[in-house]
Formats: sequence, C-alpha cells, structure tokens
Amino acid sequence: MDFTKTVAVVTGANRGLGRKFAEELVARGAKVYATARRPETMDIEGVTPLRLDVTDHSSIEAAAKVATDATLLINNAGKDGGGDLLTTTLDEIREQLEVHYIGSLAAIRAFAPVIEANGGGAVLNVASVLSWAHFPGVGSYSVAKAAEWAMTNAVRQTLAPKGITVTGLHVGYMDTDMAAHVDGSKSDPAEVAKVTLDAVANGDAEVLFDELTRNVKAGLSAAL
Ligand SMILES: NC(=O)c1ccc[n+]([C@@H]2O[C@H](COP(=O)([O-])OP(=O)(O)OC[C@H]3O[C@@H](n4cnc5c(N)ncnc54)[C@H](OP(=O)(O)O)[C@@H]3O)[C@@H](O)[C@H]2O)c1
Repeated sequence: MDFTKTVAVVTGANRGLGRKFAEELVARGAKVYATARRPETMDIEGVTPLRLDVTDHSSIEAAAKVATDATLLINNAGKDGGGDLLTTTLDEIREQLEVHYIGSLAAIRAFAPVIEANGGGAVLNVASVLSWAHFPGVGSYSVAKAAEWAMTNAVRQTLAPKGITVTGLHVGYMDTDMAAHVDGSKSDPAEVAKVTLDAVANGDAEVLFDELTRNVKAGLSAAL
C-alpha cells in the first residue's frame, strides 16, 4: 500500500489512538477523513473532519456517501467500561456490542463497496488483548472485543476476493484516556499507530503489538 495514494477513514479520530492514526497517515501523505461524534472539536491539521457515530448507522451511511474515494477504513472507535456480565446493566452490555462489534461491522458494510469500487484497499479493526483475556470486571468489554475478533476473521475471507485486506490489531494498555485509571506500563499510541500501519501496508492478518498480547494469544489452548 502506497500511503501517498491512500484515502483513509478513521473512526474516533479526535483523541487517543484514533488521533495518532490520523496524524501518522497525514505524515505519510494520505488523505484522511478524520471522523468523530463531534467533528467540530477536531483540531488535527491536514484532515477532513466528518461526523460519524458508530452507533448511529445513518451517520455511517452518510459518511460513506461523502468519502467516496476511500481506500482504507480504520475501525478504531471504542468505549471503556463494560463491567461484570452478571451485575452491569444489559443496556451497557448491548452498548459495548454496538460500539465494538456491530458499529465496526456496519462501517465495513458501508465502506467495503466504496473501497472495492476504488480498486481495493484495506480495513483495520482495533480489538484488544482483552479479546482473549477475560476478567470479570471487564467481561462485557471482552465479549464485545471477542466478537469483533471473530467478525474480523470472517470478513477477511469475504473481502479478500474483492481486493480488500483485513487486519486486526490486538494490544494491551495504551497511554490514552481509556487507560488513564491504570498505573504501570502502557504502550505509546503513536508507536502503536506506526507499527500497525506498516502491518496494514503489508496486508498482515493480525498485529499482536506487545509481549503480553503475544503470550495471551499463545496461551489460548492452555488449561484454565
Ligand atoms: N487504551 C487502551 O489501553 C486500549 C487497549 C486495547 C485496545 N484499545 C482500543 O483502542 C481503540 C481506541 O481507544 P483509545 O484508547 O484511543 O480510547 P479513548 O482515548 O477513550 O478514545 C476513544 C475514541 O472513540 C470514540 N468513540 C466512542 N464512542 C464512539 C461512538 N459511538 N462513535 C464514534 N466514536 C466513538 C471517542 O470519541 P468521543 O471523544 O466522542 O468520546 C474517542 O475518539 C478502542 O477500540 C479501544 O477499545 C484501547
């Protein structure tokens, strides 16, 4: 993938990892639609702000009608919290699925035909180490990320014949608002964006960004 010829759509681009993706793409010469629930708050130089709330499917469809030159979709938008599956509200559990799984899938359904019409390209889904590590306190977030992982693997096969590669990013704590409550070591989101964009350009199926994530995935078949 030649980023100087890439037209990217990034969800949740106003802060955190999404912002780093947008900035890095601009630095690499791409055209960037930096989408957000409140695009009026976007202050990244060199991007085209666009409204897109992943839980409002009409806003996804509207964005796909504007970004008709898109060749790369980055499903980055995410919501923290989640909570214990037995005590958090079912509305919160549904909201986690809406943002991470259904919202990302809806964006793929809207943008894959656009990317295909533009000669092919790529999709990146931002999942997590918690797709595979399932702790009670973040149970509903994990279920949503595991669903996003499964969806990523299924659509990869559907989109390959259309000339669209699908990459899944899995990473532990990053230094963003979402992990502000966490003490200890966190990855630099700017570095995550750089490494992940290299993998997307390479057409890699998965990015396992840190050692923790690599160990957790390698241990999936271990006894619980
Ligand atoms: N931080 C971590 O430790 C970590 C680790 C592994 C994976 N991740 C994943 O990495 C991705 C980026 O997270 P982050 O760390 O950058 O979190 P963040 O700093 O909390 O940023 C979240 C972004 O998602 C946007 N967003 C939330 N709900 C949305 C919706 N319904 N529609 C559109 N945008 C929405 C937010 O927009 P507003 O400003 O409007 O709220 C914000 O731009 C997420 O998918 C997250 O699950 C994070």
